[in-house]
Amino acid sequence: MTDHYAVIGNPIAHSKSPLIHTEFAKQTAQAMDYQAILAPLDDFAGTVQGLIKQGYKGINVTVPFKFAAFALASQHSARAMAAGAANTLSFTEQGILADNTDGAGLVRDIQDNQHCSFAGKRVLLIGAGGAAEGVLQPILAARPSLLVISNRSLNKAQAMLNKVIPSQTQLHACAFADLAEQAFDIVINATSAGLDGSPLAIPDSVFAPHCLAYDMLYGRETPFMQQAQRCGAKVADGLGMLVEQAAEAFAIWRGVRPSTQTLLVKLRNAA
Ligand code: ATR
Repeated sequence: MTDHYAVIGNPIAHSKSPLIHTEFAKQTAQAMDYQAILAPLDDFAGTVQGLIKQGYKGINVTVPFKFAAFALASQHSARAMAAGAANTLSFTEQGILADNTDGAGLVRDIQDNQHCSFAGKRVLLIGAGGAAEGVLQPILAARPSLLVISNRSLNKAQAMLNKVIPSQTQLHACAFADLAEQAFDIVINATSAGLDGSPLAIPDSVFAPHCLAYDMLYGRETPFMQQAQRCGAKVADGLGMLVEQAAEAFAIWRGVRPSTQTLLVKLRNAA
């Protein structure tokens, strides 16, 4: 019997998730299919209930429904609670279980694929929207020495900081203008600025020598990536995060972790 899964978003046509999960299913010999489904902006819950009635086992959730997915679930993992948003739902006899694999995907991509450990590093997280919120706690769990959250609107960065569970990591929130004179080992762009090609008003000095500059967007070279490259940083886009968060979701649903390396190479070659 084939189990059914899907990714739900709006828009959704661009999604690589069906390709990724179909490859994972083939690799691990799991009897499942996975489609992309467009939900109306005003009826995410109705779309999900329809899928549950059809016997679907779970869904991934993307923009703009991650908060709605969290609200719809009856049980939440600790990382979904920390993010206040969900990208993975499992439909079970106990109800809808919510998880968030985005942060784990980012940390795994940076540490395992980019070979850059967070431990003891100075990290700059740019942005204070849903994308930044989703990765904050997993980054802290990887024990950087310093984490600065910087956002165009400073109040949102401060609000995000106020929700953080105290850890050994030194924490600050600041405006872009206050980043002058500061240098970081890992700079993560979690803003949506690159979607419309906007540059970020951050100084070149944020990129320390041998810095890793990571844009959570994928499929385009953003002005942030161009700036980082000019400054001599090693640059990565979010394709690896996409694949790693998918592997984590797949493991939740199927109890088996697929290997990501071959697929990542295939996707990069196809880009
Ligand atoms: P997402 O779910 O992608 O995080 P969001 O919650 O709307 O989307 O957040 C978008 C983030 O990108 C915010 O941090 C936003 O900054 P503001 O809080 O100041 O709005 C940031 N952002 C978007 N366009 C930007 C730009 N041109 N320059 C700097 N930051 C930008």
